[in-house]
Amino acid sequence: MRHIMSPLDFTVEELDQMMDLAADIEKNPEKYAHVCDGKKIATLFYEPSTRTRLSFEAAMLNLGGSVIGFADADSSSAKKGESVSDTIQVIGCFADIAAMRHPKEGAPLVASMHSNIPVINAGDGGHQHPTQTLTDLTTIRSLKGRLDNLTIGLCGDLKFGRTVHSLISALVRYSNVKFVLISPEELRVPSYIREDVLEANNIEYEEVIRLEDALPKLDILYMTRVQKERFFNEDDYLRMKDFYILDNEKMKLAKEDMFILHPLPRVNEISVEVDKDPRAAYFRQVQYGVYIRMALIMTLLELHV
Ligand code: CP
Repeated sequence: MRHIMSPLDFTVEELDQMMDLAADIEKNPEKYAHVCDGKKIATLFYEPSTRTRLSFEAAMLNLGGSVIGFADADSSSAKKGESVSDTIQVIGCFADIAAMRHPKEGAPLVASMHSNIPVINAGDGGHQHPTQTLTDLTTIRSLKGRLDNLTIGLCGDLKFGRTVHSLISALVRYSNVKFVLISPEELRVPSYIREDVLEANNIEYEEVIRLEDALPKLDILYMTRVQKERFFNEDDYLRMKDFYILDNEKMKLAKEDMFILHPLPRVNEISVEVDKDPRAAYFRQVQYGVYIRMALIMTLLELHV
């Protein structure tokens, strides 16, 4: 039995197979409409979510399965002090697979160690968000036709943004991927990403503060919001929250074939006027998230058509 805690739990070849499966699901959805008949996914969300939880639920429903779960820790027995290891052993009596989001880093890993069903990390604190990364990789591959030979700009809260940490870790496995890390000094990527992931793999990267300086070089711009919920001090958040605002004027500096991704939710960092730009791909990205989660559920449950 396999779980997914990090995108690195799957080899590049396995990820390619999963993305091929997602592409086939996109083209032939009816072929997959009963793959999960009789199966259930439990969505165990101890932290707020719109996309991840509902896209897992949509993915399972699209496969013919059904959904149980909770969207709020306070409506679960966590409120009474139940541990994630006890909870997952209970959920294993009800469901075939579980997706867990938790504010504590490592909580889904602890659950997986006590589970008799596959556990999917749906985001743990500021650590990892592997299914967002699968979504991002699928989106980039679909839009650009490749995952190698790309210059990727990551902009915003690179310190607390778990999607950024997961995406960098996944992309360094492809050849000739360069990174431009765009953030204020206070929100730079953590040193373990710089040293243990980028430098350890001899990956070319630069850190810049001005988005305008980076834009002309990029094939992909990955915008992120400032993660209010991870700040200890409200004043720091207020100082940082509007540091970057991508608008139509700035988009004039970008290549014609650059795409903008964002894991969403958006706050102020992309002006809504940019949504009409054909390079704005963040809502298409959400749709790819459903296809790749369908492919992941099938892979973890070892189901085939
Ligand atoms: N991208 C993402 O994780 O969104 P949600 O927090 O809405 O799930």
